[in-house]
Amino acid sequence: MSNVVVVGLQWGDEAKGKVVDFLSQDAEYVVRFNGGNNAGHTVVVGNETYRFHAIPVGVLNPDAVALITDGVVLDLEVFASELTELKERGITADKIKISGNVHIIMPWHKRLDGLEEAYKKGNKVGTTGRGIGPCYADKASRIGLRIFDVIDPEILPVKLGEVLRLKNDIITKVYGGEPFDYDEVLAQYLVYGELLKPYVADTAAMLYDASADCRRVLFEAAQGALLDIDKGTYPFVTSSHSVSGGAACGTGVGPTAIDRVIGVVKAYTTRVGAGPMPTELFDEMGDVIRENGHEYGTTTGRPRRCGWFDAVCARYSCRINGCSAVAVCLLDVLDMPEIKICTAYDIDGTKTGLFPTKPETLAKAKPVYETLPGWNCDISGVRSWKDLPEKCRNYVRRLKELLGCDICMVSVGPRRDQSIVLDSEMLSL
Ligand code: GDP
Ligand code: IMO
Ligand code: MG
Repeated sequence: MSNVVVVGLQWGDEAKGKVVDFLSQDAEYVVRFNGGNNAGHTVVVGNETYRFHAIPVGVLNPDAVALITDGVVLDLEVFASELTELKERGITADKIKISGNVHIIMPWHKRLDGLEEAYKKGNKVGTTGRGIGPCYADKASRIGLRIFDVIDPEILPVKLGEVLRLKNDIITKVYGGEPFDYDEVLAQYLVYGELLKPYVADTAAMLYDASADCRRVLFEAAQGALLDIDKGTYPFVTSSHSVSGGAACGTGVGPTAIDRVIGVVKAYTTRVGAGPMPTELFDEMGDVIRENGHEYGTTTGRPRRCGWFDAVCARYSCRINGCSAVAVCLLDVLDMPEIKICTAYDIDGTKTGLFPTKPETLAKAKPVYETLPGWNCDISGVRSWKDLPEKCRNYVRRLKELLGCDICMVSVGPRRDQSIVLDSEMLSL
């Protein structure tokens, strides 16, 4: 009977989807609270692989109510097609509810995402191109369109007219692009409005009642803490709060209602998009990790940048998220004779264990490594802690020491059953 947040501790793609799926089998509510379809969460159940972008992973539990709450930005085209695909695959998805406060990713957001990136000379973020930044920018500028607007045929034409005038001016006069046609957009979004109506609900009130009734609620963060707009490696970040605190401001549940935070890390580090990454490997070892871990983006297919585990950034993440415990995923990928862990940074000749969020400083950080013997064998078939090779257990023990946080689970493969539980109480809702 608790409220548990699952959050990524690196630069995204830590296998949050897998951990959420594992936990959500017991959940009564599953909640997406930040980001949009820049997220790509892969879940493998038996022979079936599901890729979620806009809909909570926990929808795979037919008994759970799936909520999309205030902090999320929603692309209605993606939502509609994901919903259709799930239904075609026999997932009922009839318990989805969406907050009216959710901002909508409009067609100009996607267009502007590309135009803004192309316009920049330096500091390109390498966004997913899904319109995330421009949508959150409009939210902060108080000119965004929300679910409330799109389901109201009296309000939509007025608000759309106002915002489209501005957006078309920017697209044509600043970027020399083609304007959007008001009538076309209006007609399309009136249809979406009708589709959405049955899904709209006061999700904050639902969660308040759920908490008061001691229901089992699972909050699933998208992205990773180092991509958080405030706590990440700005400007190479996304535009939402991807730290655990986002589960409070992005839903309407007060921080005191959150009982536990489970952080998710990969047994190594990856990053997709631009920005400093101290442990990035440019040699063959980087390729080995990429191929072993199939490190290509779930959303964009881009090859992920790969490197050794960075304990400096993961320890920082544990702190800012207030992690209760950590799940270590993709451990099987490190099937090699020798493994390195970055335990500190050397910045201009000074050794530090503190993570600098100024990008210019982080770019100068040289990783200080310690080398551990690898287990050098396939562990994907192992199902218990005691059956893991001793060198593998030592690696996990060392991660625990460096993070200053308990490890509650290790994952040795993408499938649900390839999960080894170390602390079942921590993982029960
Ligand atoms: P998310 O964005 O954090 O949900 O992670 P992604 O789904 O983008 O990327 C994680 C990838 O690793 C997915 O393809 C998963 O199926 C896969 N995966 C999850 N856990 C494991 C694991 O323990 N071992 C291996 N080899 N793959 C895993
Ligand atoms: P999940 O939930 C990895 C990265 C992009 C880019 C930066 C900004 O699957 O872990 P955006 O499109 O958000 O404006 O891009 O953030 N990014 C992710 N990287 N996993 C994600 O989500 C990401 N979502 C955004 O690559 O560097
Ligand atoms: Mg992902």
